Amino acid sequence: MDKDVGQSVTAQPTHWDERYRQSYDAEAGRYDQTRFGNRHGLYAKRLKNEWILDVLQRHNAEVVLDLATGTGRVAHDLVRQPFRQIHGADLSRTMLEHNREGVGENFESHLKLCQANMRSLAYRANTFDAVVLGSFLHLIPETDYVGYTDDIWRVLKPDGVLVAEVPNSFTVFNPVNMARIWHHKYWRHKRIKSYVAPWDLRRLFPLFKLDDLIGVEYPLVGKSFAFHRFQCRLLGRMPLTRWMGGRLMAVLSKDVE
Ligand SMILES: C[S@@+](CC[C@H](N)C(=O)[O-])C[C@H]1O[C@@H](n2cnc3c(N)ncnc32)[C@H](O)[C@@H]1O
Repeated sequence: MDKDVGQSVTAQPTHWDERYRQSYDAEAGRYDQTRFGNRHGLYAKRLKNEWILDVLQRHNAEVVLDLATGTGRVAHDLVRQPFRQIHGADLSRTMLEHNREGVGENFESHLKLCQANMRSLAYRANTFDAVVLGSFLHLIPETDYVGYTDDIWRVLKPDGVLVAEVPNSFTVFNPVNMARIWHHKYWRHKRIKSYVAPWDLRRLFPLFKLDDLIGVEYPLVGKSFAFHRFQCRLLGRMPLTRWMGGRLMAVLSKDVE
């Protein structure tokens, strides 16, 4: 099938797909409370969304897709900004129901949600100025990155960008992150598939050009919100320390050559 004629690729679902659909359907009701229910989680969410917003504004994005949108961590902040259209897609219907409930009365009509597998999206080719993929890639092995991102390439406009949150293998230098991983993996029995080194990003996203890389999640620095935010912004941008963020925000543009 020609991927540029506006049809989605007909990818076979992987065994992760059914597993994650079931697991996020079951977890949807407590997802926000366990992730953003405390001060630290809320802070990390606000900071990451600020980065994302910044990137989208710099690229003059108007039509944006929040992919694997879940309960709307990113999308709910985006609908409060003057973008022309915000779409959200996710595999789990129950996550989407919570997303719809949480968006806020005045913003329901600003967010178009659809149940979809990102490996075969039902959007026309060249539809979006930007696609955001937050907190998803750690769930799949790095050998699957291409299979999960090639339909993103199709739905992006030629000058579009993918803003992807990538799990950083350098996180081992941060004991708080290590404790979190341990908790996730052994206490909550969630499988973690990939942590990747920053220099592998070009290889892992061969359809895209790596335009920028920002470090996020520096939990051991600072206490007060304003100071912490300043420190994180500084560390996340500086040449060496940005590679030490618990997660990396990769800004990847669609390579059409
Ligand atoms: C860790 S949650 C992240 C949700 C949201 N982006 C956030 O940052 O809070 C992962 C999400 O990916 C969704 N998901 C898993 N596999 C998917 C697939 N193949 N296509 C689309 N969404 C998928 C899950 O249903 C879940 O909502």
